[in-house]
Amino acid sequence: MEGYALITGATSGIGLELALNFARDGIHLVLVARTKEKLEEIKTRIEGEYGVKVLILPKDLTHEEAPLEIYEELEKEGVQVDYLVNNAGFGTFGRLKDTDLETEKDLVKLNVLSLLEMNKRFVPAMAERGFGYVMNVASLAAFMPGPVMANYYASKAYVLSLSEAMHEELKPYGVKVSALCPGPVKTGFQERAQMKKTNAAMAFLMEAKKVADVGYLGMWRGKAVVVPGTFEKAVPVLVKLLPRSLIRKASFLSQKE
Ligand SMILES: NC(=O)c1ccc[n+]([C@@H]2O[C@H](COP(=O)([O-])OP(=O)(O)OC[C@H]3O[C@@H](n4cnc5c(N)ncnc54)[C@H](OP(=O)(O)O)[C@@H]3O)[C@@H](O)[C@H]2O)c1
Repeated sequence: MEGYALITGATSGIGLELALNFARDGIHLVLVARTKEKLEEIKTRIEGEYGVKVLILPKDLTHEEAPLEIYEELEKEGVQVDYLVNNAGFGTFGRLKDTDLETEKDLVKLNVLSLLEMNKRFVPAMAERGFGYVMNVASLAAFMPGPVMANYYASKAYVLSLSEAMHEELKPYGVKVSALCPGPVKTGFQERAQMKKTNAAMAFLMEAKKVADVGYLGMWRGKAVVVPGTFEKAVPVLVKLLPRSLIRKASFLSQKE
């Protein structure tokens, strides 16, 4: 049976660029996002350009039943997932006391709960087969607390911690787990989070293609944590060296409310 790469959040930004990497290597795709029209457009483009099979599943991963529906639909189609990329995610901006509760809950449902369930649904079969690659998209935000993006930073700390633990647990089973931890990337993310154009992060935006290329290579190399960018690589090191009180203040200062 041919293995597929299942990528969530594949209609734009980092997820789309990751999908293109798999397609270039001749790997069939299952693409998940909410917007059916965008998925159809990308399916036509990728099948035409790379000759791989592309299945699309329009799903809102904040809906509790979505990961199970994805799993059952793929079981029915006889699709074997050898590569799982949990990329869909979004951020909120503003002091937690002021932000919208339902949006914050949706953030946890998408960035944390759906990612957990996708791993729980698809990883056991990989371990049984003795082959598989998992990429969970975290963020540089995972390494520190993030005032005015508090819930987002906390959600990514979860993703990083979960992924590193999974990396060790699954090593003996031939399943390689990586956490991709980009700094700020030029995608639809900033607009959805309603970040100010004057935010310091806006001055250091990496291209989504560059981030995806580095992440993809890191995944093949079985790296536990992949941080694209030279300046960005220094951040986790600084976080370890400097006092936490200084880190959270610097993190706060870098944001523009
Ligand atoms: N951009 C950055 O600065 C940055 C930095 C570090 C980490 N990241 C992480 O990178 C990942 C990808 O983000 P991006 O920057 O590429 O953002 P993006 O361009 O906004 O892409 C987000 C993708 O997720 C999909 N999506 C959003 N909500 C969804 C939902 N409820 N259910 C299913 N799919 C959903 C979107 O498609 P639909 O709208 O059609 O659903 C889109 O395909 C995220 O996990 C983000 O936290 C981003």
